[in-house]
Amino acid sequence: MDLITMDDLTNDESISLLEDARRLMPVANGSAYLPLLEGKVLGNLFFENSTRTRLSFETAMKRLGGEVLNLSDVGSSVKKGETLYDTMQMIDGYADIAVIRHPRQGAAQYAADAVEIPILNAGDGAGNHPTQTLLDLFTIKQGHGTIRDLRVVLVGDLRYGRTVHSLSHALSRFGASLTFVSPESLMMPEEIVRDLKSNGCDVAETSDLLSVLGSSDVVYMTRIQRERFPDEAEYEKVAGIYTIKSDDLANAPSNLMIMHPLPRVSEIHPSIDSTSHAWYFRQAFNGVPTRMALLCRSLGVPIPEVIN
Ligand code: NCD
Repeated sequence: MDLITMDDLTNDESISLLEDARRLMPVANGSAYLPLLEGKVLGNLFFENSTRTRLSFETAMKRLGGEVLNLSDVGSSVKKGETLYDTMQMIDGYADIAVIRHPRQGAAQYAADAVEIPILNAGDGAGNHPTQTLLDLFTIKQGHGTIRDLRVVLVGDLRYGRTVHSLSHALSRFGASLTFVSPESLMMPEEIVRDLKSNGCDVAETSDLLSVLGSSDVVYMTRIQRERFPDEAEYEKVAGIYTIKSDDLANAPSNLMIMHPLPRVSEIHPSIDSTSHAWYFRQAFNGVPTRMALLCRSLGVPIPEVIN
């Protein structure tokens, strides 16, 4: 089973993955050892920078007793001009499952079509990032006890940010009202907004972040995706445009969650880190249990009801 976009999961499947992830928490934090994936090999194929996604997949696999192969464009034949198709043929033989991150939108689907093993999309250009969405949903459930019918504000680079493309899609299917906050040049792509609305989702768009903080359950900050700008001067115009600091939250609901896929540049001032609104580091940790659940599901390995 591949995971390329959130369309590859029904709502019930997403919910069951979150439940599996919850059960796997003791394994994720190292207090229990459960070698469900012993003898299995994960190919970690990263053609773009990554800290959390790559390392949390690696930790997830290792804590379940599996092995990991790491490929990056530095130190591999990708630098010699090998095509993605050829690289994938090798991985098909060396690994049981692979995670791929690539600068080109559509590359994960292309890779999945080229091989037999399951492929998990860890970010394809400005396209999608569904495994991030699973950990985002898991974190929202931790904070609010539900992922249904929430008021969620997505902030920053909604044009090039793949995390918000996948997340808005998933949240809309769970009845969220979405507010998109961005500068004009980085608005959510029209076809995504059209899709969300045609599925009955309540969508609002603004460039004013402070005006929406008082009436939200989740504020999801994102980095301006510098590497995707065709022109550095265009990036400079919007760099640092949204920064949230603890004073801005004076009138916010006490259970407002501030989230961020990370890395942050200047979007969240460190004064928020020690407040109860800060969820981004727990969010990053949640990559481990959710990716464990996903690896098990994709490899057809059931998770025991009780783990201790
Ligand atoms: C995100 C990505 O790669 O899209 N990072 C991540 O996976 N946590 C967000 C970003 O790079 O801004």
